[in-house]
Amino acid sequence: MPTSAWPPSGPVMGWSSWYAFRTAISESLVLAQAQALVSSGLAAAGYTCVNLDDGWAAPARDSGGRLQPDPAKFPGGIRALADQVHALGLRFGIYTAIGTRTCQNLPGSWAHYGRDAQTFADWDVDFVKVDSCGGLPTWANQDTVTEDFRIFGNCLYDAIPGVVYSQELPIWALNTAGASFSNAVQSSSVNSNMWRVAPDESPLSQASAYPMVLSHLAADLHLHGYASPGHWNDLDMVAPNYPASGWTLADLQNQLAVWALEASPLIISADLSRLPVDALGVLANPHLIAIGQSGAQCAYSVTEGNVEALVKTDPRGGQAVCLVNLGTGTASAAFTLSQLGISSPKASGTDIWSGRVTTFSGVSVTLAAGQTRLLQVQGT
Ligand code: GLA
Repeated sequence: MPTSAWPPSGPVMGWSSWYAFRTAISESLVLAQAQALVSSGLAAAGYTCVNLDDGWAAPARDSGGRLQPDPAKFPGGIRALADQVHALGLRFGIYTAIGTRTCQNLPGSWAHYGRDAQTFADWDVDFVKVDSCGGLPTWANQDTVTEDFRIFGNCLYDAIPGVVYSQELPIWALNTAGASFSNAVQSSSVNSNMWRVAPDESPLSQASAYPMVLSHLAADLHLHGYASPGHWNDLDMVAPNYPASGWTLADLQNQLAVWALEASPLIISADLSRLPVDALGVLANPHLIAIGQSGAQCAYSVTEGNVEALVKTDPRGGQAVCLVNLGTGTASAAFTLSQLGISSPKASGTDIWSGRVTTFSGVSVTLAAGQTRLLQVQGT
């Protein structure tokens, strides 16, 4: 049986089927990934929620109007899979959409919110992602779609005590002329646990890694006022199809550093059986995870030239500082300790990845485009 606290007050950590497998998912594949979450040590590090994304459903509802799984992919049914995932000590998540169809043109939950919430309750689901993929009436507008997400959320919370509700109302607003992104984020934060604030990470390639990380950071940095324990801005999944995507280990470290400062959920979307040992070490880094789970999104940043310092309280003491080069070429910058929220004249800086400690009276860095440096800075 699952042992992790649920719903978590920090951003959710886990795994999703989406970027590595798309719709090529099955009962045996999901179970093998859940087992790998445990055997790799990632579950012990905090990655406990196993999320089935789009592609699990049959093309039509059953005769009772209920969603049903694709029988070829999930012959034992979703409840049996959830039970096996729970038996590993993990949580189980599922996906649907607010309109009549999902992004893969499978049945969405429109006009079935109460019924689908009950189906997910019957399947003992712990986490529900509600996507936004159209399939809404022509008269739908910001008010009605916001209301739909609110109603569906209430159905889920009523049917499944402790459910984590993850939704994409802001993505609907981003994609809809005339809709207000900030109003959508504001209303999202009222009754859900996490809401996507940036587009999908696709296409995935080494060349797209740092522009994506920087654009997602820019989208999220000013939204810290909406984040609080149990309610988080969601930057999308981590390690998307790593390493098949072509991302380097440094790309992964850059993404994780920004996601941790921003207190975004950390949902790994890679084939866990192919994650190299160094990537496993980076994902399971306990100090990185502590920063991600600190209880707050970064609310303070300072920029020198092209280098931005993101700063928030490090739960292990002092400040967590992520220095990030926002430019397109190599950049150097120097920050005083007071700019980083440190009042003493000298400080020690611990590199979160190497553990190396240095003492300084200010922080000077030279970073390649998109490169980050993640430090714990403590006054001495
Ligand atoms: C949308 C979502 C993705 C994923 C796909 C599935 O694009 O934003 O996270 O769920 O749909 O089709």
